[in-house]
Amino acid sequence: MATTINAVALDESPIPEHISKAKQTVDPYNVTGEVGDDGVMKAIDYTKLVEEFGTKLISTELLERFEKVTGKKPHRFLRRGIVFSHRDFELILDRYERGEPFFLYTGRGPSSDSVHVGHTIPFEFTKWLQDTFDVPLVIMLTDDEKFLFSEKRTIEEVQGYCSSNAKDIIAIGFDPAKTFIFSDFEFMGGAFYRNVVRLSKCITLNQARAIFGFNDSTNIGRIHFGSIQGATSWASSFPHIFGTDEKTTTQIPALIPCAIDQDPYFRMTRDVSARIHHAKPSLIHAKFLDALQGPGTKMSASVDESAIFMKDTPNQIKNKINRYAFSGGKVTVEEHREKGGDSTADVSFQYLRFFLEDDGELERIRVSYESGEMLTGELKAICIKELQSYVAAFQERRAKVDDAAVGLFMERRPLQWVGNAHAPRVVPVVEKSGDGADTAEGGDGKLTKNQLKKLEKLKQIEVKKALKAKEKEEQTVTAE
Ligand code: TRP
Repeated sequence: MATTINAVALDESPIPEHISKAKQTVDPYNVTGEVGDDGVMKAIDYTKLVEEFGTKLISTELLERFEKVTGKKPHRFLRRGIVFSHRDFELILDRYERGEPFFLYTGRGPSSDSVHVGHTIPFEFTKWLQDTFDVPLVIMLTDDEKFLFSEKRTIEEVQGYCSSNAKDIIAIGFDPAKTFIFSDFEFMGGAFYRNVVRLSKCITLNQARAIFGFNDSTNIGRIHFGSIQGATSWASSFPHIFGTDEKTTTQIPALIPCAIDQDPYFRMTRDVSARIHHAKPSLIHAKFLDALQGPGTKMSASVDESAIFMKDTPNQIKNKINRYAFSGGKVTVEEHREKGGDSTADVSFQYLRFFLEDDGELERIRVSYESGEMLTGELKAICIKELQSYVAAFQERRAKVDDAAVGLFMERRPLQWVGNAHAPRVVPVVEKSGDGADTAEGGDGKLTKNQLKKLEKLKQIEVKKALKAKEKEEQTVTAE
């Protein structure tokens, strides 16, 4: 089973050129565990990844520091080691403490309309970081990547997914005043493209091969793509948010929450950043949510029984968990009662680690299951309930996201944020750009001081109008 699921996942991103059958491979295009002598794929060895990639495990001390600086209890993903590794996260905490600017950056490859629970993990976490730090967030939709890395997909197809994917992302609950979503095809140009080229100029073919495993038959679009995903880490790519003074904007770092497979892009970007005197991005890495088939398998958007999808009905969720969720229980009830279940292998328990907020309850379930007191069926029932409510809450928000909302999030506009309200805020200066186009959509995305003022004024008028309309409406309601 494990191999089938992964074969499909590979077929979606056909770069298995450097993949070896036996070894664990984790890069942006392949995520496969080690295949043992018995031909069964093992779970991803995350400790090994941290060593190989040269990242750091998130320590208890770092979490304590986080709590002290932000006054907030770490998210359950942090408490449970689901978000487990980082690069320079402590530098972001330093900046937050001092009131210095930074921003959040994450993204998604729009490869299909079907979003599963696994896709929502990094976004849930990013939203929480946005709420915690109150900083701007840019979300990149890599439609170009999904075209370049697929044999079949057309440009029209991937562009078509952008709007529905944006709606799914918005439904996570991001604040429109602080969030800019963009498609690469649409946003490319101006300051962004200048940074893409600055980055690509610093990467040789040899380096790209070493980092990503490309070979002589790889199309050159794929080889170049890393500079696009990388350049988004630089605040100077977003003059409508951070202004046009590169003396300031090059000093504003990104914090990138992502799944660990995206690290190679940013390892490369951090090297180049240091060379061209741009602030290096910091990273905070998440593990993957296993497919229903168990450890070592990966959810696939094209395999319905591999995942719980955000469109699934309560009944579908129930049936999928009951039928497919790999169980850590014993074969007979007698044996289970005697020896207990294996919570680390049990998919329902693993999903509860991701979705059940209450630490005490999670621990009670673990103890009860491992002692044999709780049976697999009971554990599954708890998991079903949690997932049903997670998915239903998402669906409720998703139903309210319309095209106008997508338009708002994807519009080039200034964002508003406060950062650390308890620290003196260091504001990046927005300088007047000499070559100013007159409209907000000016080709290179730069906004002059006057344009910013104008936009702000227009926004305030909008708000006032809306308030008045609301007052009127309320009056008529009371009159009736
Ligand atoms: N390459 C990612 C994907 O295929 C999308 C992405 C772009 C991304 N920039 C990112 C993901 C930054 C995490 C962080 O899904």
